[in-house]
Amino acid sequence: CLQYGATEGAAQLAQVLKQVTRTRIGGADPGDLIVTTGSQQGFELLLRILLEPGDGVVIERPCYPAAIQALRLAHAELLEIPGDAQGMDTDALEALLLEGARPKLLYLVPSFANPTGATLPLVRRRHLLALAVRYQFIVIEDDPYGQLRFSGQAEPPLLQVAQEIEGARDWLVYLSSLSKIVAPGLRIGWMCGPSEILRRAVIAKQTGDLCTAPWMQMVAAQYLQAGHLEAHLPHIIATYRERCAIMLSSLREAFGDRLSLIAPEGGMFI
Ligand SMILES: Cc1ncc(COP(=O)(O)O)c(C=O)c1O
Repeated sequence: CLQYGATEGAAQLAQVLKQVTRTRIGGADPGDLIVTTGSQQGFELLLRILLEPGDGVVIERPCYPAAIQALRLAHAELLEIPGDAQGMDTDALEALLLEGARPKLLYLVPSFANPTGATLPLVRRRHLLALAVRYQFIVIEDDPYGQLRFSGQAEPPLLQVAQEIEGARDWLVYLSSLSKIVAPGLRIGWMCGPSEILRRAVIAKQTGDLCTAPWMQMVAAQYLQAGHLEAHLPHIIATYRERCAIMLSSLREAFGDRLSLIAPEGGMFI
């Protein structure tokens, strides 16, 4: 692990990340997977291989700032769809598509979004994927926070919902990361999606960093294989639940009725 490694990631880590993803999507097959240097790199690779300057990309308003920054650098045309307490308004998205918009990509954080904390309900998840298949745009599901649920009912990731919608797997790329559940300093993320997209992402990654640090990949693989994540998750979920409760009560105490807010069911944002 002090040598260069395979650009698509160490087989040992890829295998265990597949297992992590399989568990996350209710036991379904996650398909092909590559390791990335954080999920941020996965997103940037997708923009590099899929976008031409001026291509339309749908995002939710408000959106994770580093995603906007990457999209601006790629000279994307940002098509902003308003969000509410339940995340992206898919009816507004459909209206935009009916008006003739033809985005190439759609980016969203369906579970405990950054910065809103909102989670997309199952009906909107199905609606979104049906629109992606009908209008042929690629959905990038960014899922770094999904495992940090501390209340309410779990919603299946789009990667899971896509199993029941014909053709949806062809239009979906799933990104996740160890940053929010283990440690951001590891810089370990991963991407699941159609094999042709992953193949091109690997070629682009080769010119970016050759490979994700093999040393850190081995640290991550050993950590996950030893079962430490399963033991760690309940601990951090309890911590975030407690921090959220403190933050909510402090905000209510400080601002009273002058502030309206929605209590999130997980993640790091209100
Ligand atoms: C929504 C979202 N996506 C991606 C990232 C970056 O993750 P990584 O550390 O895996 O690159 C973050 C980090 O804050 C985030 O909030």
